[in-house]
Amino acid sequence: MATILDGKKLRDKILAELKLKIDKFSTKPELVVILVGENPASKIYVNNKKKTAEKLGIISKIIEYPENVTEKELLEKIEELNNDKNVTAILVQLPLPEHISKENVMNTIAPSKDVDGFTPYNFGKLFSGEIPTVYPCTPKGILLLLNEYNIQLEGKHVVIVGRSNIVGRPLSQMILNENATVTVCHSHTKNLADIIKTADVVISAVGKNIIKGEMLKNDCVIVDVGIFKDENGKTRGDVDFESAAPIASYISPVPGGVGPMTITSLMLNTVELFEKSL
Ligand code: GUN
Repeated sequence: MATILDGKKLRDKILAELKLKIDKFSTKPELVVILVGENPASKIYVNNKKKTAEKLGIISKIIEYPENVTEKELLEKIEELNNDKNVTAILVQLPLPEHISKENVMNTIAPSKDVDGFTPYNFGKLFSGEIPTVYPCTPKGILLLLNEYNIQLEGKHVVIVGRSNIVGRPLSQMILNENATVTVCHSHTKNLADIIKTADVVISAVGKNIIKGEMLKNDCVIVDVGIFKDENGKTRGDVDFESAAPIASYISPVPGGVGPMTITSLMLNTVELFEKSL
């Protein structure tokens, strides 16, 4: 039976250490989160980020805009935050409404305040094999979790399912940096099951229950990034935990695996930006 990759336990450990560090700062880091529209999941995420930040002594503000805010107004606010010396970190919660260009938004955030690592400057650095200002939060959280359980990636075949800018794409580069062999699968991939069967590590970030135990190689490591409610309202991940756990050597649960690590990384990134700004 697989060992559980316990994201809550690691979160508590990392954040306790981070709080001691923040307590020693004479001024405090400030994280500003911009939320556009009424997406219920985004609202929950944003409030969780604020609550966690405040517990640590990070100043946290949420700026909310209605769904129909203009791109111009949003970009002007970002410029204002870029120029505000008190603001350490800027996060624009995704997804954005369709009339707002994500590209223009990411082009406007100052790379030195880009707590997600999503601006073209930081993404470009990551994809050039250079060191970005900070690493994107979910991939960073996944690597922290694997590292905590001494799971080495060098020479391993890591199969990532999903090619989003938030998880799959940046994660592929970070895992390449660990000297793994990386395969990125997506909705057009043929023979997904055959590819997964060859994986030493499977990392799935799709948001659909697509991976069953019978698809897995014995003793593989499973990281489940997906989170959604099934037809009965139960929180589920991409991986069928019941059939996968007896086959895998390690598995991250949903909830309680990657989710807490994403918030942990956001807090770490905010403090990293703060230290760089001093
Ligand atoms: N929406 C879902 N995950 C994320 C994230 O990590 N950052 C931002 N900005 N939006 C998200």
